[in-house]
Amino acid sequence: MPKAYQVYQRVLQEGRAYLGRPKASDPETAQALLGLDHKSFAHFTHRLGLSSSKHLRYTVLPLACAEPPLGPILRELLAAGASFAELHKLQSRYHRRELELAQLQQAAQARAWRSLLARRRAQPDWARRPVWIFPTDMRLRRLEGLNPAIAEVLVERYSLPGEWVVDPMAGEGTVVQKALELGRRAWGSDLKGDNRLVKRLDIADLVEAVGQEVADLLVLHPPTFAWYVQHVFDPEHDEPPEFEYANWLSGHLGDALPVLKPGGRLVLIVRPEHKPRSLIRRDGLLRWTFVAPLENLLSEKDLEPLHYHLAVSEDGEEDWSIFVGLKRVQSD
Ligand SMILES: C[S@@+](CC[C@H](N)C(=O)[O-])C[C@H]1O[C@@H](n2cnc3c(N)ncnc32)[C@H](O)[C@@H]1O
Repeated sequence: MPKAYQVYQRVLQEGRAYLGRPKASDPETAQALLGLDHKSFAHFTHRLGLSSSKHLRYTVLPLACAEPPLGPILRELLAAGASFAELHKLQSRYHRRELELAQLQQAAQARAWRSLLARRRAQPDWARRPVWIFPTDMRLRRLEGLNPAIAEVLVERYSLPGEWVVDPMAGEGTVVQKALELGRRAWGSDLKGDNRLVKRLDIADLVEAVGQEVADLLVLHPPTFAWYVQHVFDPEHDEPPEFEYANWLSGHLGDALPVLKPGGRLVLIVRPEHKPRSLIRRDGLLRWTFVAPLENLLSEKDLEPLHYHLAVSEDGEEDWSIFVGLKRVQSD
């Protein structure tokens, strides 16, 4: 049995005996012990064979009465083998909003909390704000291409050194390049791939090429809505293009998702609100694709929504909507 969990259980068991309340629940026992006067608390600490009551008062007992939604997850992590120090760090990172509840939940289920504790490089100031207004760099601007600064932030934030990053619509390989620079292992492919970093492959053949459940981070950066309308959309079709676009993305996502490990992260990068001229309707209205259908797309694929980032270049010319989801760990 894990050591910290053993200590935790013993404290509560002894606590019930000390209080003479054998049927009290864990939170009731912890609350009652925390309510003891100074002398009795010191006596109880001594009885447990502990030299200091601080650990008991500020770490062990508060854990037993920590309320949902965080409390039960912390206790699950403890039972899975996390130490008190690890729980403290995870809790602090959660309160600083560096970790989501869903990530902690997945980590508890998959017994993989240590990967959440690994030290990360500091993110640029703009990536810590609600909307990412990133520096314009004309030299790096490419139609449909991702700014390398965004690629770097995404790789750094959603993967760890040594993990596998897979980008099956890699274009010129911006994400793959950054992933390798940051010490990740990376696979890049594209319909038009033709070099060492980006192999030529249709996303429909991805699973066959790389296998199932191998990626820790799957980056999907499909052609934009504007490109889709110009090159793929059939105007004779009954459905409005924004729905067709969501369906088209859904197909690509379905092709790629099997490569993601349970507990792995998907980053979907889209430009849904672009307004191609060809979409100006006879009534003069513009049809836009809004982000909600794309968010739905993630939930339909059984992904836990983790984050939504809006990234806009300082000159307003580039704008990306970035959805991040977690692949659920199937519980038996
Ligand atoms: C928005 S771009 C990706 C840009 C890339 N992130 C970069 O920074 O260079 C979308 C890419 O999807 C590729 N693509 C379109 N359909 C594809 C398919 N069926 N399989 C693989 N790649 C595809 C296109 O060739 C294009 O390079």
